[in-house]
Amino acid sequence: MNRRPRRNRQSTAIRDMVQETILTADDFIFPLFLLEGSNQKTEVSSMPGIFRLSEDLMLKEIEECLKLGIKGFDVFPVVDEKHKDSMATKSHDSEFFYLKTLKKIKEEFPEAMIVTDVAMDPYSSDGHDGIVKNGEILNDKTLEVLGTMALAQAETGIDMIGPSDMMDGRVGYLRQVLDENGFEKIGIMSYTAKYASAFYGPFRDALDSAPKFGDKKTYQMNPSNRDEALLEAQLDFDEGADILMVKPALAYLDIISDLKENFPVPIAAYNVSGEYAMLKAADQKGWLDGEQAMMESLLSIKRAGADIILTYFAKEATGLING
Ligand code: PBG
Repeated sequence: MNRRPRRNRQSTAIRDMVQETILTADDFIFPLFLLEGSNQKTEVSSMPGIFRLSEDLMLKEIEECLKLGIKGFDVFPVVDEKHKDSMATKSHDSEFFYLKTLKKIKEEFPEAMIVTDVAMDPYSSDGHDGIVKNGEILNDKTLEVLGTMALAQAETGIDMIGPSDMMDGRVGYLRQVLDENGFEKIGIMSYTAKYASAFYGPFRDALDSAPKFGDKKTYQMNPSNRDEALLEAQLDFDEGADILMVKPALAYLDIISDLKENFPVPIAAYNVSGEYAMLKAADQKGWLDGEQAMMESLLSIKRAGADIILTYFAKEATGLING
């Protein structure tokens, strides 16, 4: 035999030398859940080890992560039911705690890369990402709300917006709104191929943002579709998205790979709440080695073509990477 692939696997030194994919803290964006008030910390029951934090504790968490080498954060607000309405009014109220905290974070840690979520659901009494009328999710009317929301977020000094709503035309619309208001430097990480997935369950627990009726199938993608992801990607690319995202990650590695092959912009993948919950549950039951399964999953997402991974494992994985 003149080809013996096992020769390159025979020692740690050789294996390390020929390793194709290497994870680093630079790959990660850490999603964080923000609570109103101070000194508040509650664990998400379906996401062991993940806490909703009030501003003071979140600032400490970000400081700790920055020291570990994690530089990117995606902040989501936990909005009390009393603040919700059909038009997501609080999403663009500059006095609302989410916007105030974003400003504070950027003042304290200008070096951190902060992404915000642009979608109506955390603030919507309907629990949908767009305006609901007679049971339908309106597209173009929703864009106006998203534009106002994105502008309010931009004014806090954040680095990038993450439109996660899946309305048609939103990337182009938001790019124009940002540019017209002098925010041409703010990037757009678009949730390009966002599937109507069962894996978002724990996130909706964390934010208490589950739809009050129906599902999200008229705007999020059908898990059976692959060509359609290329169409979404083409639109977002043409409309000016700086980064294209696939979500969820693990059940959609083919989509990550397709986007990586076809678009010359960084590709992000969102290793979502349900993917985190599954591994944690199995680990807690002793059914698999949680740390190894975590690293293998993250590696597979990067190997598939993701340049950036949004993951609740960011801190834990970075701890392991740093050794
Ligand atoms: C809301 C949004 C969702 C997630 C990120 N932004 C949930 C949804 O669309 O229902 C899910 C993230 C996760 O599950 O970790 N627009």
